[in-house]
This record gives sequence, C-alpha cells and structure tokens, in this order.
Amino acid sequence: MAASSRAFVLRHTTLGPVPGVDGIRLHLGAEVLPLWHAVQVETGDPDAALPYWAFAWGGGLALARYLADHPEAVSGRRIVDVASGSGLCAIAAMHAGASDATAIDVDTFSVAAIALNARANGVRVTAIRRDVLDEGPPDADVLLAADCWYEAGLAARVTPWLMRARDHGLDVLVGDPGRRYLPTADLEEIACYEVRTTTELEDLDRKQAWVYRLRR
Ligand SMILES: C[S@@+](CC[C@H](N)C(=O)[O-])C[C@H]1O[C@@H](n2cnc3c(N)ncnc32)[C@H](O)[C@@H]1O
Repeated sequence: MAASSRAFVLRHTTLGPVPGVDGIRLHLGAEVLPLWHAVQVETGDPDAALPYWAFAWGGGLALARYLADHPEAVSGRRIVDVASGSGLCAIAAMHAGASDATAIDVDTFSVAAIALNARANGVRVTAIRRDVLDEGPPDADVLLAADCWYEAGLAARVTPWLMRARDHGLDVLVGDPGRRYLPTADLEEIACYEVRTTTELEDLDRKQAWVYRLRR
C-alpha cells in the first residue's frame, strides 16, 4: 500500500461503527463533496473517481447484514469481494467464518482503506488494486458484489463477469439498493433489509436494499 494513500485515508476519515452492522468499524468520511475535492487535489486529477471507499453503500450494508445472519453462506469458504470500496463485505465475510478473503477494487485509496479497515476489525483481507473484469473467474468459492450497478459502463462489464464465474461453479451473492442497471431477471432475491445510509450519498437516509443470488 502506498504510504501516501494510507495517510490520505487516515487524514480524511474517522474510525467508527457502521449503522446497522454490528461489530464492524470502518474509516468513514463525513461529507462527500469536500472529500472528493481533496482527492482531486491529492491526485492532481480533476476526473478522479468519487471517494466510494469512504462510505458504506446500501448494497454493501445489506450484504454485510446478510452474511452476519447467514454465516453458512461463506463459512469455511474462500471469498472474493469485487468492487469492494471500503472492504465492508470482505470484512463481514471474515467475521462470518470465511477461510480467506480477497477484496478487489480499481481505486488506490480503496486498497489503502481496505487494509486499514481489515486491521481495525482484526481480520486478514488481501487487498488488490486491479481491474479483473476482463479476466477469468478467480480461484475462490464465493463471489460478493455489492452496489456495482449504479452506472451503465460498470454494470455492462460486471454482470457477464459474475455470470462466467457462476458457470465456473462459484456462488455469486449480490447486494443492491435498487440501482438502475441491476440485471434483476438473472437474480433470485434471498433477503431484504432496511439500511441506514446518508443523504450525502442517497436521496433518503433509510433505504431498502436487497440481497440476491445469481441464478444457476
Ligand atoms: C458504490 S461503490 C460500492 C463499494 C462497496 N461494495 C459497498 O457496497 O460499500 C462501487 C465500487 O466499485 C469500484 N469499481 C469501479 N469499477 C471497478 C472495476 N472495474 N473493478 C473493480 N472495482 C471497480 C469503485 O472504485 C467503488 O469502490
């Protein structure tokens, strides 16, 4: 992890509880726009991505709750959390008894945040910065994908990647708060939660979010 990314995450977040998800603490941001501006200044890139990693998104909150309620979904199994953001779902999987967890994201700050958050929760998570969506399925038993359907470009790539992994024999669990590009026809709903998010990110601070299994 680049020391500067780690320092940036620590400087712009506060370690605290995740509303509605017992037993997990994350380094969380307060206001999205000032933090986004700080990322743009830090990277010198006016097109830098939103600091997704500084927030627990609705899909991740639902999937983390589901793993706490249904540890058998991941217990003793190797999980990969793709588009991991803060690492919330990978950490929840380790708390639920996963044998190991890999968290993948394309954002350098995300990888730094995942490492810090894993350490804060006393679990081991391998954090990888890479775009794997044109690669074959990972060497794992369960794929977790939370809140990946908020924009068309990512949705068009992540859905077929998850389907290829499912065809390869992996279980695929999805968390989503009703994003526009979610491929609902391919998904079997397995749980629904009211999640507490923030009007920094969403229109309402309480939303419904669903957990799905990708149909076989
Ligand atoms: C809305 S956030 C969801 C984060 C987390 N899963 C959650 O629910 O809190 C979406 C994440 O997708 C990541 N992302 C975007 N494109 C990606 C790609 N091609 N591969 C992996 N991650 C990607 C972003 O960096 C961001 O962290």
